[in-house]
Amino acid sequence: TVLIVDFGSQVTQLIARRVRDAGVYSEVAPFNRAAEALERLQPKGIILSGGPASVTTADSPAAPDAIWDAGLPILGICYGQQLMAKHLGGRVENGDHGEFGRAFIEIDDRCALFDGLWEAGERHQVWMSHGDKVEALPPGFRPVASSPGAPFAAIANDERRFFGVQFHPEVVHTPDGGKLIANFARHVCGLAGDWSMAEFREAKTREIREQVGDARVICGLSGGVDSAVAAVLLHEAIGDQLTCVFVDHGLLRAGEADQVVGLFRGHYNIPLVHVRAETLFLNGLAGVTDPEAKRKFIGRTFIDVFEAEAKKIGGADHLAQGTLYPDVIESVSFTGGPSVTIKSHHNVGGLPERMNMKLVEPLRELFKDEVRELGRELGLPDVFVGRHPFPGPGLAIRIPGEVTKERCDILRKADAIYLDEIRSAGLYDAIWQAFAVLLPVRTVGVMGDARTYDSVLALRAVTSTDGMTADIYPFDASFLSRVATRIVNEVQGVNRVVYDYTSKPPGTIEWE
Ligand code: XMP
Repeated sequence: TVLIVDFGSQVTQLIARRVRDAGVYSEVAPFNRAAEALERLQPKGIILSGGPASVTTADSPAAPDAIWDAGLPILGICYGQQLMAKHLGGRVENGDHGEFGRAFIEIDDRCALFDGLWEAGERHQVWMSHGDKVEALPPGFRPVASSPGAPFAAIANDERRFFGVQFHPEVVHTPDGGKLIANFARHVCGLAGDWSMAEFREAKTREIREQVGDARVICGLSGGVDSAVAAVLLHEAIGDQLTCVFVDHGLLRAGEADQVVGLFRGHYNIPLVHVRAETLFLNGLAGVTDPEAKRKFIGRTFIDVFEAEAKKIGGADHLAQGTLYPDVIESVSFTGGPSVTIKSHHNVGGLPERMNMKLVEPLRELFKDEVRELGRELGLPDVFVGRHPFPGPGLAIRIPGEVTKERCDILRKADAIYLDEIRSAGLYDAIWQAFAVLLPVRTVGVMGDARTYDSVLALRAVTSTDGMTADIYPFDASFLSRVATRIVNEVQGVNRVVYDYTSKPPGTIEWE
């Protein structure tokens, strides 16, 4: 185990992720509970995270003495490096101007962190984000890398196996950062690198049992991968103390509801309440054309329906959600920062307080691809686990203008053909998300000597790693024309197909 001591960085969980990528188990503990975590976990190494504070101020967060005295290897990142330097007798100063963003460091000397990776004399790209910097090294330390803004961009005390880096190896903008963290976890700490999702599964089920005890838990299923994986994991941990509620708003893709119900009732035998609320949702959406109004109505109604069902079931005081780490980060920046709301994302965020329930979020530290891996580990079928993300408000935000049952059915048919062709061409896994959008525009066409006057359908496909930014997927023209022909021939109500060439930004992935 590697213990990660958190000083409040936005990206501490990314450090944990990189350590997991190296096949080593890690746990994050806040700095004020680090001593207890050290005792409990008996780790083989420690990483000190970055953080927003400055070690030059009086009451800045510090690491307990037990950390420094444990005789274990330590890697300090950014704030962690500065803390190390200051605590051990070096000097940290508040620079006039910091370094933010991409920077290049010169490798000055060999270092265990750089093994098999960087050699003296080379230059490498890293990501910096700091105002303070180390100005004088503590005794026993030597500089191993430098940058124009940070004379001690990387430092080492080989005897104590203490290392410090001013840059952030955990972010993707430090291209070799993952390997550097792997060097620390495996070479320096001597850990084997054989940790796996199977162990995460075991540790989490234990943790869920401890948290929940013999209480009852309700889990809302959206039809998506995250909530399904959370539910299956919970079921493994607490069995029939779990009841799942699937609010089917009638805005799902073709076959999706059957798939979820079949999987839960048939395959896993997990108690599931399937609430068919299509009419309620479609009636409420009648005449609504504004995208935000659609989103707000669907979000609110989802919560109402869910709450009513939960009351019927009764006796549950825990609510489980498939929240992922990027959701946590995004909602933090949405509420805490100066950023504007681009879209009101649909989730069950307001529920726990309203219903006075405790939250169980077993996937909170994972990233999407890790959740997929956990899903496979739990035996969820590949086709289910590998599915593209699907928004909570469903097809309603893929039908600009008014949403009707008829338009949902047209879109479902066209979307299924598009995805079917993508699958047959072997492209499904290379694409982050692909879907069709039914436009409120009619155009004239000619079919079999007759005039048609029908809707336009737009196809969208993007690549992305986290949904925050996206590129369009460059299909061959022959592929697109095959899909267009099939859709116009097979789907009544559509007589023209166009392809969306907009990246994100400036576009968003969904159209509304
Ligand atoms: P946008 O359209 O904002 O979408 O570029 C980014 C990613 O988020 C998905 N999305 C949602 N997911 N609830 C969700 O759970 C929502 O309300 C929602 N809106 C958009 C979208 O499909 C894409 O993957």
